Amino acid sequence: MSAIKTENLTKIFGHVEAVKSIDLEVEKGQIVGLVGPDGAGKTTFLRLLAGLLMPSEGSIIVDGIEVIKAPLRVKQRIGYMPQQFSLYGDLTVSENLKFFADLYRVPERKYGERKEELLSFSQLAPFQGRLARNLSGGMQKKLALACNLFHSPAVLLLDEPTTGVDPVSRKELWQLLYQLNDQGATILLTTPYMDEAQKCHQVGLVYEGRLLIYQSPQRLIEEMPGEIIELIIEKDIDREMLQSMPGLKYVYPFGETLHLVFIEGKHGEQEVRKLSEKHGIGIKRVQRIRPSFEDVFFSLVQEQTGAPVP
Ligand SMILES: Nc1ncnc2c1ncn2[C@@H]1O[C@H](COP(=O)(O)OP(=O)(O)OP(=O)(O)O)[C@@H](O)[C@H]1O
Ligand SMILES: [Mg+2]
Repeated sequence: MSAIKTENLTKIFGHVEAVKSIDLEVEKGQIVGLVGPDGAGKTTFLRLLAGLLMPSEGSIIVDGIEVIKAPLRVKQRIGYMPQQFSLYGDLTVSENLKFFADLYRVPERKYGERKEELLSFSQLAPFQGRLARNLSGGMQKKLALACNLFHSPAVLLLDEPTTGVDPVSRKELWQLLYQLNDQGATILLTTPYMDEAQKCHQVGLVYEGRLLIYQSPQRLIEEMPGEIIELIIEKDIDREMLQSMPGLKYVYPFGETLHLVFIEGKHGEQEVRKLSEKHGIGIKRVQRIRPSFEDVFFSLVQEQTGAPVP
């Protein structure tokens, strides 16, 4: 039995088709990452799975429960962490935990032990008395996660659980996710960070409400068509000039460099150098590189939008 299964899942808000006919099947014990541009429908999709929104069409099964028939029952099986702040800033760490324990109807006799477990898991024990609003961003995310674990959910739906926190806290949060996954939790999360998507067992690309790709990041990288040449450029260059290069599929900024994706086997580094010189493009270095997941993501999105130069 899969942990999550949706068929033809669709949600329409007025004129906006936020989620369009998504079929997704997530095996138990997997960590799945959803990526996609702003407004692609990721949050709406998670809210549908969590039983917080009713779909316009389609079916959803989460941990064996038909969500549309039993939206309340599913809440006992999932931990849902919304994208927006879900804590009470003027309550302490302890009080926030108590609030969520009551929400999840944790019996009083079990509460103390579970609270200690969660404080230790999230490394928040020394801060129990601190107001949530006075915690760092990373600690707030850890607390929000802990608050949703009282009932040891089988499926975690985490909407951008690491957005806006520093790299060290991001790493720590991922360690917590790995721990939960080791204990058997299936995790579906959204992330704007490509390095995080690459850590997932499977990654889904959501674009304009559709699930365009669902694949392991390794396979996506292996199967990326075309070759990537990285240009380390001297100054701002005229993108239109680049566009006239024969065989060029996409160009996108990559940190301080530009990545050019050429049709496979079309160009060598020397040729790109010559072409750049011919077009008066000042470059410091040209090198063929192995694609990263970020390259795959940009290429896929550009393929969809059909725009060769952003
Ligand atoms: N309650 C709502 N009423 C009307 N439109 C909505 C509602 N919720 C979402 N939308 C619209 O649905 C689309 C998808 O939004 P959603 O928040 O799911 O995207 P997202 O992928 O999570 O974006 P982001 O990366 O910015 O978080 C957007 O066009 C949004 O404006
Ligand atoms: Mg969102």
